[in-house]
Order: sequence, then structure tokens, then C-alpha cells
Amino acid sequence: MKKVLLIASSIALLSAMSATVSADGAALYQAKTCWSCHGKDAKTPILPIYPKLAGQNAGYALNQMKDIKSGARANGQAAAMQGVMGLVNDAEMKEIADWLSSLK
Ligand code: HEC
Repeated sequence: MKKVLLIASSIALLSAMSATVSADGAALYQAKTCWSCHGKDAKTPILPIYPKLAGQNAGYALNQMKDIKSGARANGQAAAMQGVMGLVNDAEMKEIADWLSSLK
């Protein structure tokens, strides 16, 4: 029984790992609902006080995501975004940041 559980959990772990590796930033941006505030093209936010993200420097974008997630950045409308940040881990944030920086 223990063995079966162990095998099952390693399969789950493996598929979780491959999902992280294969999912690209664009897909994550859709799946994690980022588009619902920042716009599908990442430059048409739903409110004019929400930021455009397309073309942003990857390192800067990643740091802002981390800070909003942790609460270190709580200025402006950051609280609106904090709720969804539980959906993304560091690797996923980096994937999204890299993709955002590749946009024009
Ligand atoms: C509920 C709306 C909402 C959702 C969903 C949301 N954001 Fe945001 N995001 C905001 C707002 C509002 C700000 C600006 C906060 C402020 O006023 O300082 C922001 C700021 C940012 C910034 C910093 C921009 C800058 O120029 O400093 C990045 C990067 C970002 N969001 C990425 C994401 C990503 C990636 C996701 C999905 C995981 C996401 N956001 C989901 C509303 C949202």
C-alpha cells in the first residue's frame, strides 16, 4: 500500500514538474487570470489606473510581482492584485515576466 502511494505521489510530482517546465509565460498569464485586469495583450488594462505590462523589463516586473505577493509593495491599487498572487510561484512569475518583456 505504502509503495503504491509512493509511486502515485512521485507521478503527481513528475507531472507537476513537467507542467511548470512546459507552460510558457503567455499560457500562465491566461491561466492565472492576469489578463482579467491587465488586458489580454498586457497593454489594455481594464482601468486607466492599472498598469500596462507589455514590454516591461523582466527583472523589474518579477520584483514587483514578488513585492505585491509578499505585501512589501502595498501602494496604489496593489491590494487588488494581491489576492491572485497565491496562484503563482516564483518560477511561474519568472516565466510570465520573461514573456512580458518580450512583448512590444
Ligand atoms: C484584480 C486585478 C489584477 C490582477 C488579476 C492582476 N493584477 Fe497585476 N496589478 C494590478 C494593479 C492594480 C497593479 C498596480 C498596483 C498599484 O497601483 O501600484 C498591478 C501591478 C502589476 C505589476 C507591476 C507593474 C508596474 O509597472 O510596477 C506587474 C508586473 C503585474 N501587476 C503583473 C501581474 C501578473 C503577472 C498577474 C497574474 C499572475 C497579475 N498582475 C494579476 C491588478 C491586477
